[in-house]
Amino acid sequence: MATERIQEIEKEGKKAFPEAGSEEELRELEVRYFGRKSELTGILKGLKDLSADEKREVGPAVQGVRMALMEAFSSAKERVAREGRDWEAERIDVTAPGANDPLGHLHPISLIIGELGDIFTRLGFEIPEGPELETEFYNFEALNFPADHPARDMQDTFWIDSEGLDTRYVLRTHTSPVQIRYMETHTPPFRIIVPGRTFRNESTDATHEHTFHQFESLVVGEAGDLTVGHFKQLGETFFEAFFGRKVSVRLRPSYFPFVEPGFEFDISCVFCGGNGCSSCKGVGWIEVGGAGMVQQKVFEAAGYPRGQYQGFAWGFGLERLAMMKYRIPDTRMFMSGDLRFIRQF
Ligand code: PHE
Repeated sequence: MATERIQEIEKEGKKAFPEAGSEEELRELEVRYFGRKSELTGILKGLKDLSADEKREVGPAVQGVRMALMEAFSSAKERVAREGRDWEAERIDVTAPGANDPLGHLHPISLIIGELGDIFTRLGFEIPEGPELETEFYNFEALNFPADHPARDMQDTFWIDSEGLDTRYVLRTHTSPVQIRYMETHTPPFRIIVPGRTFRNESTDATHEHTFHQFESLVVGEAGDLTVGHFKQLGETFFEAFFGRKVSVRLRPSYFPFVEPGFEFDISCVFCGGNGCSSCKGVGWIEVGGAGMVQQKVFEAAGYPRGQYQGFAWGFGLERLAMMKYRIPDTRMFMSGDLRFIRQF
């Protein structure tokens, strides 16, 4: 009888699957028990020729056995796969140190520029940019350096071969040309800072480099609204936030064609607090750049009517600030491309 045979198949199968030792043997058993020409399939196919009573008996029996053997097959498959693995090769050393992700470093000047951005955007400043390759007009003329005026000698300039062009080009010697560019398209009141790369044709030493960075500030309001006191105060606020300690500002009279009055901008030495040390050569003050009240001629060059506005500007050396903040001894390190330097930041 079919049911007896079905039980035998079940017994055989339940013995065969656990004994299978390889994937190949398993494949053979799969064909033998579940293939198109297998006995179980034959019985299933023959169901339609049986009487209703026989169907009721054989049908569930053959399906039950098929399910049971399928289970035996799948656990045999798992077992064979497990036994076939090379556990030694797969051993994981859970005490091994983690792999180091090779993350790059930000250049210290980039770090400083990011910090300036944080501090000054909080104070409501915008941060426009300008081109590093400038025209003579923006770099000099509009800033009240007339052609052939000795003031141009203040800034050793990389002149670009501009033959055949409608104007002469320079590598900008300062970030001040962005003052003009910004004012041409904006109306006061406004406040901006402009960090950027600048160039001077000079021989290099520990404090001079032909390629360096400045950080310009320009704040303009109605005439009478802004005084020297305001930018001294803004400078103190900035340096305190930047160095994380109280910093005093000292202004010394100086000359820049685009400001009147003009000043050299000193801060109290951040190393000794103003008492005098080797970093400030014993004087207690460190010069960080130039500053002053904007010359009316500069407003006129930017298209503003004379006398309507008043403002102040400064231009600080970013390398100087980075050297103080990170105690970097030589300005040539910034452009050296030496990875040992960069990796410290
Ligand atoms: N642009 C000047 C320089 O590079 C610095 C400066 C900026 C001075 C703004 C006064 C006002 O020397």
